[in-house]
Amino acid sequence: MKIAVNLDRLSSELEDLASFSDAPPSEEGTAVTRVVFTSTDLEARTFLETLAEKAGLRIRRDAVGNIFFRWEGSDPSLAPIGTGSHTDAIPHAGMYDGTVGVLGGLEAIRALKEAGFQPKRSIELLMFTSEEPTRFGIGCLGSRLLSGTLSPEKADALIDKHERTLEEVRTAAGFSGGLDTVKLPAGYYHHWLELHIEQGPLLEREGLPIGIVTAIAAPASYKFYLEGFGGHAGALLMPERKDALCAAAELILSVERNTLATGAIDTVGTVGTAQIHPGAVNSVPSRVTLELDLRDIDPARRESVIEAVRRDIAAIQAKRGVTVREELVNADPPATSDATIVAALEEVCRDAKILYKKMVSRAYHDSLFMARISPIAMIFIPCRNGVSHRPDEYASPEAIGTGVSVLAAAMARLAAQ
Ligand code: GLV
Ligand code: MN
Ligand code: MN
Ligand code: MN
Repeated sequence: MKIAVNLDRLSSELEDLASFSDAPPSEEGTAVTRVVFTSTDLEARTFLETLAEKAGLRIRRDAVGNIFFRWEGSDPSLAPIGTGSHTDAIPHAGMYDGTVGVLGGLEAIRALKEAGFQPKRSIELLMFTSEEPTRFGIGCLGSRLLSGTLSPEKADALIDKHERTLEEVRTAAGFSGGLDTVKLPAGYYHHWLELHIEQGPLLEREGLPIGIVTAIAAPASYKFYLEGFGGHAGALLMPERKDALCAAAELILSVERNTLATGAIDTVGTVGTAQIHPGAVNSVPSRVTLELDLRDIDPARRESVIEAVRRDIAAIQAKRGVTVREELVNADPPATSDATIVAALEEVCRDAKILYKKMVSRAYHDSLFMARISPIAMIFIPCRNGVSHRPDEYASPEAIGTGVSVLAAAMARLAAQ
């Protein structure tokens, strides 16, 4: 079977999808901001549904807004092959993160249809709700619910910065019904595959078109609420201050120091947000909220970092008279890819004479949670300079085309068995 990926069609759809964005134009590249359940997110969903309908796929939306696009197999009683990713984008991001796995998945299905392929197992494309943590503070909302990793009650009670609950926001966006209906049974997918840009520099550096992901690193995130004592920036004497931002600065540096201290390249720690109260140049900060993102392929080593940070926090509190409250947002285990899918991907690459390497994903993906209910693997393609979560994120049409053709060939193999 000759599978022909239509790169013009796919590139123009990626461009069209990027136009649904709340980011102001950027000189750095195509800036995309598409936060879950904003009007741009909803417009992007409609755009995708229109394309999928045209491709003859059957659509199902669940209560949290995950969208399933199904190509019925000749034996619909068999568990389907699943693929997909996300279309939401963090503020001021690029146009390839997630979208390549969604529109690329659609293109893989269309290419298989156009090649005259008829799958025995159904093939299902999935667009996940809120892979990014931007609005509700926790990533992979859709896949956590699909896999039963997050309780429906906890999910519905999540709030955004305007104190609106997920339940309110999703209902207003047209996704109603109980979240308890979202979970998929274990074994729902026979095999699951996600195509994604690498978001790191290794494939490009090594001149390799494909990465086969063997494991996904374990992410954790925490919030820290610091409370000191504020007041007039001129009048409050320096020796009497309990400046919450100075304490936060020490906490941030503790994260950096303790993360580096593991000596492992796979341990990464980032404090990416800080909310300062009252946030005025002439007022001593009385309250600060920080969000920490901590990851490692080894969850025990990740835990040792947060424990070291906690010891430093005890010392910072004693020294500065500032109280620090920690809240765990999530601490997830890593995921391992399935040997059968990895072997199928290797065979596809070898048959097509495509060079590849096996590698770990340091970014998290919805596949991390799909791994709890299904055998998974991921396909990575190189992106320029390894850049991601920035407007200058770029993957060439050729690189995307290679990824889509590997995805299509692998799905064809897996769907035939
Ligand atoms: C998801 O975008 C991540 O932060 O890995
Ligand atoms: Mn991302
Ligand atoms: Mn992504
Ligand atoms: Mn991601």
